[in-house]
Amino acid sequence: MSDAPIPDDRGAAPELAGRHLVLGLSGGIACYKAADFARELVKSGATVQVVMTEAALQFVTPVTMQALSGRPVHTSQWDARPAANMAHIDLSREADAIVVAPASADFIAQLAQGRAGELLSLLCLARPRGEGRAVPLLLAPAMNREMWSHPATQRNVAQAVADGALLLGPGHGAQACGETGDGRMLEAAELRDAVVAFFQPKVLAGRRVLVTAGPTFEALDPVRGITNRSSGKMGFAIARAAAEAGAAVTLVAGPVHLPTPAGVRRIDVGSALQMHDAVLPLAPAHDVFVATAAVADWRPIAMAEEKIKKDGSGRVPAFEMTENPDILAAVARLPQAQRPYCVGFAAESHDVLRHAREKRIRKAVPLIVANHGPATFGRDDNTLVLVDARGELELPRADKLSLARALVAQIAQRL
Ligand code: C5P
Repeated sequence: MSDAPIPDDRGAAPELAGRHLVLGLSGGIACYKAADFARELVKSGATVQVVMTEAALQFVTPVTMQALSGRPVHTSQWDARPAANMAHIDLSREADAIVVAPASADFIAQLAQGRAGELLSLLCLARPRGEGRAVPLLLAPAMNREMWSHPATQRNVAQAVADGALLLGPGHGAQACGETGDGRMLEAAELRDAVVAFFQPKVLAGRRVLVTAGPTFEALDPVRGITNRSSGKMGFAIARAAAEAGAAVTLVAGPVHLPTPAGVRRIDVGSALQMHDAVLPLAPAHDVFVATAAVADWRPIAMAEEKIKKDGSGRVPAFEMTENPDILAAVARLPQAQRPYCVGFAAESHDVLRHAREKRIRKAVPLIVANHGPATFGRDDNTLVLVDARGELELPRADKLSLARALVAQIAQRL
């Protein structure tokens, strides 16, 4: 069998290929989600060594976790199998990260106190934290909302974080106990995305990024309007990639049906004018502006108050149109002290590069990303050509998230 990473459903290389993770389970009903999480990690290319506390064994069996991770599970510090009988040392030295999911209130309390009564707490305590070879510790808390908000838990969480742990969640919502509130463990796919994000290079740490995405909708009457086939996928992928790279991201989205990427602030708008009015006051507070939205060029001068009716005469309505403001050009015209680094998109059906070069000059932006409109709208993959003052750089066909990460790296280099 070859060791080459198997491409995932979208043709991308598995995002966790080559990563070795210790997945720790402490006691809680969310252990059932940890089984799914282990599967997600393996599907993403990671090797996963599961370690379970005695309490976790009450909720899910090591047989299940072994079958999903493909490795025997460690449950005890007294296990004689490891050569020098030092599982806590071996396990914590090999890992690229330790992820504890679920992290129970009791387990976080043990961490806060530096306790080492079980293999999992022991190996968290024994993990290297030095400059050269630190093994990060990621915690996915899971507990009842009262337990989560209890000052003792909050104190322990703060202590664990001060000692270097990173929190994934918790989420908010219905809980197994029948109550609703904070303390739910994130879902398996959310946890997987958070681990993938954790490993992305933090090339935009401390930066603020503003992104527009999707189409706009120009109403003709209360039920009809003019829009286009932009799905918003590229813009949402860029917002996600920028957040993964450590930026604080604001996403101004036209009407699309896409989930908000984790950690991104989203503002929903309808028309081009609404998008313009949302973006312009925000732009000066951002370091980068990426305009991926397919903004309608024109809008009807007036929207009919009532639905326009067919009257049987065969006459068709005529709409007088006016031009929408160019949001990107308006941001690029801000005084230099208020102007973010501006990145425009050019989706063309022909002469893609020529139009992109012209657009870069006309809109006075340093970087234009060219792509073939009909070949990208609604699809999960794309090809991009970056056009700046120095020339052109092609990012070859890939899924939109991989392209977004490559684009974010290019933007970071240019800041
Ligand atoms: O529509 P056009 O080809 O000019 O779009 C090029 C770039 O300008 C894109 O980045 C788009 O988001 C932006 N744009 C804009 N406001 C408009 C039209 C386009 O921000 N009214």
